Amino acid sequence: MKTKMQKADKQGTAVAEAGRVLREGGLVAFPTETVYGLGGNALDAGAAEKIYAAKGRPSDNPLIVHIARMESVYELAAEVPETAKKLMDAFWPGPLTIIFRKAAHIPYETTGGLETVGIRFPDHPVAQALIEAAGVPVAAPSANTSGRPSPTTAEHVWEDMEGKIDWILDGGSVGIGVESTIIDVTGEVPMILRPGYVTKQMAEAVIGPVATDAAVTRQVDETVRPKAPGMKYRHYAPKAPLTIVEGEQRAVVARINALTDQAIAKGKRCGVIATDETQALYKQGSVLSVGSRSSEESIAHNLYAVLRAFDAEGVDVIYSEGFQDDHLGSAIMNRLRKAAGHKEIYVNS
Ligand code: TXA
Ligand code: MG
Repeated sequence: MKTKMQKADKQGTAVAEAGRVLREGGLVAFPTETVYGLGGNALDAGAAEKIYAAKGRPSDNPLIVHIARMESVYELAAEVPETAKKLMDAFWPGPLTIIFRKAAHIPYETTGGLETVGIRFPDHPVAQALIEAAGVPVAAPSANTSGRPSPTTAEHVWEDMEGKIDWILDGGSVGIGVESTIIDVTGEVPMILRPGYVTKQMAEAVIGPVATDAAVTRQVDETVRPKAPGMKYRHYAPKAPLTIVEGEQRAVVARINALTDQAIAKGKRCGVIATDETQALYKQGSVLSVGSRSSEESIAHNLYAVLRAFDAEGVDVIYSEGFQDDHLGSAIMNRLRKAAGHKEIYVNS
């Protein structure tokens, strides 16, 4: 298949054409405010199957359904609880996916066999215009090959999807850089299944106490099924093994310098994920700053691009500094821990 990549123009010609492709059962990658999505008609079982094939993704991992109007949720959810209405009012359009009981006409191919459906109203003009143009709800996982870091530019999508999908709508680099927060409102207590830009504190300010699924912070074994099936896979992973080093800043820098010394002595090529504050303190290896510690937003924005840069460079091992596991930092550490397969070292000064 020949993949067409085109800038989303002001006149909306590209968006209109891509919308038609979606309506007719094709696949279109598009920018959202979080990461690029790989879209297909959410009501078409065949489109969902094509999405799984293009990503190389297990088909028991459900897709998020994207809408461009608040009222669409009432057609897709069997029930819209009060807590969900409060979350929708506060955070939609925006980087929040809400899990509902699904309406009967959503195919199980879209929901990975589940009776629930994740719905999101993205806050990106191209995403909204595309969904409107398609005239159908759009199922869209992140537009990466399964297991690779999510794409935050159209070029990342091209790397993974060229030849496998019909269209890539280029909307430049995305704003947030990590996937949406997922909150399940089908149980007694609302539960975060995946942390994101909408933090636990932000959600609690609107709906009161919110729990967090165990699979968010630690590796769950085979007997514990994470609520978001996607959380069980080694996700967001760079090709080289990654280790996170956490603790007081000077001790972390010293340990990473010692680790890169040892690795280089064995002939390995090292990547170091540093910050603006520490970048100059690393002595060897390929050192990339992921952003400034004074702005968690900058770190979220750059994280996947840095992991992809190390893939392109072909390093053998990667060491990363750790981050505060709170607010947006919870989303950053969740993705980093998955990328590391939960390999973490704690150092004391
Ligand atoms: O920001 C985002 O959410 C991006 C953009 C494109 O919107 N999409 C995204 O989709 O990250 P994906 O497929 O890469 O991740 C979806 C996650 C998976 O971990 C999946 O298991 C979970 O959401 N999920 C989807 N539907 C679910 C459901 N009904 N119940 C529980 N988890 C669900
Ligand atoms: Mg994904």
